[in-house]
Amino acid sequence: RPKVTIRTMRRMAKQKEPITMMTAQDYPSGLMVDRAGIDSCLVGDSLAMVALGLDSTNPITVDEMLHHCRAVARGCKAPFLIGDLPFGSYESSPDDAVKVALRFVKEGNVEAVKLEGGKEMAETIRRITTVGVPVVAHVGLTPQRQAALGGFKVQAKTAKQARALLEDAIAVQDAGAFAVVLEAVPEEIATYITEQLEIPTIGIGAGKGCSGQVLVQNDALGVFDRFIPKFTKQYAKLGQMMVEGLREYHEEVKAGLFPTQQNTYPINEAELTRFFE
Ligand code: KIV
Ligand code: NA
Repeated sequence: RPKVTIRTMRRMAKQKEPITMMTAQDYPSGLMVDRAGIDSCLVGDSLAMVALGLDSTNPITVDEMLHHCRAVARGCKAPFLIGDLPFGSYESSPDDAVKVALRFVKEGNVEAVKLEGGKEMAETIRRITTVGVPVVAHVGLTPQRQAALGGFKVQAKTAKQARALLEDAIAVQDAGAFAVVLEAVPEEIATYITEQLEIPTIGIGAGKGCSGQVLVQNDALGVFDRFIPKFTKQYAKLGQMMVEGLREYHEEVKAGLFPTQQNTYPINEAELTRFFE
């Protein structure tokens, strides 16, 4: 597969070919994103919930994210690879943010970083892009700020909030972000913002007027089904298949049906006789 770059995605957006983005959290999930032909792969901090079982994304650390980024990078070669900066690692100062972004490239082997926030993050985005690390911004429903937002709720439902969201999107574009994720935004607003921007918008729960779409892989494949957000779609029921496979293994071992001759190593008769002598 040819390598997907920022230029590839910019061209797709210009030609109105929807960009596909999917999350991954380890080597096999990264490999499958590559094999499926998906354009871009995000090591999202949602892995804190869907792969580590935490109740929110906030506790995950930079070191933990880097561990997952490295694993994904080993399997995911052609898609453009982005790592999510975790809560608490980039908000306090642009200097801190530059340091952590550089670690994501050097130690996490990703090509770009994503961070949550609009206007208030503009200076930080400018600084990170200035040192040569591409940035994806994330506005609308920003899960790292879910407590401040009052939960996982649709954003920009009033005209005033929608205008503020548009201003945020323009601010991150002007600061140098090469793309912006719009999460949980009414379709008409996301479509209008997309039309107003030069950079691609990647929607999740933002309708089909965005330049691209992103989903969390464990949601999309039905591995994580503790709760299913409105904006996701289950393209497979892998969780169910996993339980069925594991149960069959359990039952076959209990019933003496596994392992069979086929799964067992032979030994030379003469050696065996000598052994039992
Ligand atoms: O963490 C994540 O998976 C994300 C995407 C849903 C955009 O931020
Ligand atoms: Na995230």
